[in-house]
Amino acid sequence: MTTDTLPAMTGRPAPVLTLDPYADEILLDPFPAYAEIREAGAAVFLERHGVYAIGRHRDVQAALKNWRDFSSTGGSGIADIRKPGAWRAPSPIVEVDPPDHTRVRAVMQRVISPSVMRRWREEFEREAARLVDELLAQTRFDGVHDLSEAFVSTVFPNALGLPDSPERRDNLFLIGEWNFDAQGPRNARLEATTRRVAAIEGWHQEMMKRENQLPGGFGASIFEAADAGEIEAEVAPLLIRSFLRGGLDTSSSTISAALYYLARDPAAYTALRADPNKTRNVIEEAMRLETPIPYVGRLTMRDVVVDDVLVPADSKVIVMLPAANRDPAAWTDPDTFDINRTTQGHVALGYGIHMCVGQAIARLEGEVVLKALAARVETLELTEEPTRKLNNNLRSFASLPLRAQ
Ligand code: HEM
Repeated sequence: MTTDTLPAMTGRPAPVLTLDPYADEILLDPFPAYAEIREAGAAVFLERHGVYAIGRHRDVQAALKNWRDFSSTGGSGIADIRKPGAWRAPSPIVEVDPPDHTRVRAVMQRVISPSVMRRWREEFEREAARLVDELLAQTRFDGVHDLSEAFVSTVFPNALGLPDSPERRDNLFLIGEWNFDAQGPRNARLEATTRRVAAIEGWHQEMMKRENQLPGGFGASIFEAADAGEIEAEVAPLLIRSFLRGGLDTSSSTISAALYYLARDPAAYTALRADPNKTRNVIEEAMRLETPIPYVGRLTMRDVVVDDVLVPADSKVIVMLPAANRDPAAWTDPDTFDINRTTQGHVALGYGIHMCVGQAIARLEGEVVLKALAARVETLELTEEPTRKLNNNLRSFASLPLRAQ
């Protein structure tokens, strides 16, 4: 039985857990905590933060599908942004429900539709080939800094239409880091990123303006939709903001994860070289295992029963995507990297009406990088253990020392 199948108020109280999903040791290795959450109940109460959490695959999908009861208007993170003292303006796409969501989403979907992305493919392929050739010449490189981040921070802002500048790459990654820290609690990690991002707030604001969207990019198309009256004029810069904040770290985290799993599994890498069409599966499997955005926030609009557990009205809920993506009830050998498994049903890109609108970009970026590698690199190995970058709501590597030959 899943969400909303019992009459309200018949559920049992949620089990109370003391674990803190934002503690360093859990960010480094979150999987035992996810197992504890799944095993404790269909919904649990995390007393440390005063929020509920859902981690079983079927309940995660059901909650994300049920936008009427699990609203996005309370904010995509752990904080309830409707409460007094809310400290940021809601996103006009991710933090709204229908009908407001439907109109804005339609514009975004058109601006980055699969047919638009087909026009960018050649340029993405060229950049991937150029980067991989350059790295092959030096044999050893860092998979995060030199490949996945270098690639994404070139092709994505170019397609968006942001003018290039020496500070563009570092600024965009800092904005992303701050954005995802801000989806967690107001802890020391967020305070530190907030101090750093303050120094580039002027640049961040400038990049949302119409005059900084070069012709032919996604940004210019968004302002054209505003001119045509499809969205309000003030929504256009906020949509550019979504691109700046959510479009880089997520894709580069996925590409780094794919490199990591391939470097640890020579048989999988050989299979990919033999059949480059497996690229798509490798990317999906890396997304499933890594799940770059771990938690999406929802707010209950009435008492809701999740399986047999009551989540009272007006509760903030964090929907735990990686817990669902490794739920043994949904996946065989959930912790194993298997490029032949059917990955359909993974929730790394979300599920339901808010499912990632940028997924075609992320998939294209991953595909062209892996194809460029598979075509040129015979063996890919880790030369040292990678390190993790800790963030409140972004799972990624800080370094991935690789040798390619
Ligand atoms: C592998 C890379 C990516 C991952 C893992 C990812 C993950 C997600 C997830 C989990 C959601 C659902 C949020 C929710 O339900 O509250 C989402 C929505 C969204 N993503 Fe992505 N994303 C990725 C790439 C991108 C890119 C490249 C863009 C750039 C355009 C983007 C823009 C968005 C936007 C605007 C939404 C909100 C959609 C809506 O509310 O209708 N994402 N993404």
